[in-house]
Amino acid sequence: MKIIAHRGASADAPENTLAAMELALEQDADAIELDVHCVEGELVVIHDRYLDHTTSGQGLVHNMTLAQLATLDAGGGQRVPTLWQVMQCVAGRCDINIELKGLGTADPLLPLLARAEQSLGFNPEQWLISSFHHPMLAQVKQARPELKIGTLFAGCPLRYAEVASELNAHSVHLSANFLDAELLADSRRRGTKIYVYTVDRPDEVAEMIELGVDGIFTNYPARTRALCHSQ
Ligand code: G3P
Ligand code: CA
Repeated sequence: MKIIAHRGASADAPENTLAAMELALEQDADAIELDVHCVEGELVVIHDRYLDHTTSGQGLVHNMTLAQLATLDAGGGQRVPTLWQVMQCVAGRCDINIELKGLGTADPLLPLLARAEQSLGFNPEQWLISSFHHPMLAQVKQARPELKIGTLFAGCPLRYAEVASELNAHSVHLSANFLDAELLADSRRRGTKIYVYTVDRPDEVAEMIELGVDGIFTNYPARTRALCHSQ
């Protein structure tokens, strides 16, 4: 079961910051999940459309300039990193699940992936591109058919099999609240991986191991790894 650090190791460092990414690497996560929005044509790593929840700023992320964004505190003196800065930090040491959160994020992603593959030691196999906005995934898949994409579902994953099949997805990502053994068995038959978010409680980790999911998003990669070893 893959352990995917949700927004980095975000229980112990400010989410979606370089500190959270470095900690996820230290905690031996198999992959790092992060969220991206677009600012001045560049991808920046932040979850919400609004700055207020996780930074010292206010208002919509996409109304900022990169220079303005760089002045904000994203927690503990951390900055809102660009995706390129995270890629430089990780430098091929673990896989990255890039969640396309903001609209218009597929366009700037493609040249960035190519640049990271050429100069930062990433293998295309290390990317997993996911989104709740499936048309952006179709755009990525059309440009780079070999890349892994993950179809995200909020709430009950309606038509998950058809959607995953239409997009030739590697994985279906759903809330642990909507996972059941039947869905897992069906996905296994179809050859689609199942990743569940966000699993932090030790008893829920144990339940996911028991069910046999392919991966979990967790804010606690080290603790989750230890639980996996003890099962
Ligand atoms: O990618 C899994 C999970 O991160 C999706 O939900 O809201 O945490 O981005 P959210
Ligand atoms: Ca996310």
